[in-house]
Amino acid sequence: MERIKDYINTKIIGKNILYFDSIDSTNLKGKEIGGQLEEGTIIIADEQTLGRGRMGRGWASPKGKSICMTLILKPNLSLEDISRLTLVASASVFKALEKLDIQAQIKWPNDILLNNKKICGILTELVEVDKEKLVVLGIGINVNLDMEDFPEDLLESGTSLKIEVGKEISREELIGLILNEFEVLYLDFVNNKSLREVMKISREYSSLLGHYVKIIRGDNILYGKALDILDSGEILIEFEDGGIKELNSGEISIRKVDM
Ligand code: BTN
Repeated sequence: MERIKDYINTKIIGKNILYFDSIDSTNLKGKEIGGQLEEGTIIIADEQTLGRGRMGRGWASPKGKSICMTLILKPNLSLEDISRLTLVASASVFKALEKLDIQAQIKWPNDILLNNKKICGILTELVEVDKEKLVVLGIGINVNLDMEDFPEDLLESGTSLKIEVGKEISREELIGLILNEFEVLYLDFVNNKSLREVMKISREYSSLLGHYVKIIRGDNILYGKALDILDSGEILIEFEDGGIKELNSGEISIRKVDM
């Protein structure tokens, strides 16, 4: 993992890297010590024993085969803008994979898919430390996992880059590519308030737009058609009764359904 630095050409993002052989969760660590860390510091682990996903779910990451990293960010942004950082990260992972000739899709707002199966999840969390907003942005990627590394029920919806591409991918190079892309898109957002490229990628390579979707919000299940991803970062849904509403990513889980 020392070689990551060879692939990074950023000014802020990844200038400092904290590396752990094994950790409970890089996001948990970020929340614990992020207050003392410089903006742009990356926490990387070779293995997580308590990886966390969205909606209180777990995130499995066997040793040496995946990317588990957390970016420490201290942007001066509103709460709404902070939630848009997930889209910035999704677009960065998408662009990094494109550089490796891997054509992925983005499942709004926080999953990256390959051949309709999940290879990457993003978990953006916000904490306040000494009145300062601290964003811990966790990225988990199934890189070199083999079929036997997945529990059987997950193989239906999840996969790894190695399984799909048929060869091992360098984790160091992929991390470098992601951080390079992220810095450009992040600084454009923070400094110029521009999400132009992020929104273009989110729409153009969306796995949901134009499709029927199932939306789960707590105990509620709704069906509709995904019409657009708005500049606000919200998704526009046409529901079965004809009503059209924008939804933010907050507490919902969404997936494509065949109809
Ligand atoms: C999801 O798809 O629900 C989000 C998964 C996020 C996983 C990453 S791995 C690095 C960071 N540390 C964690 O515990 N979770 C995130």
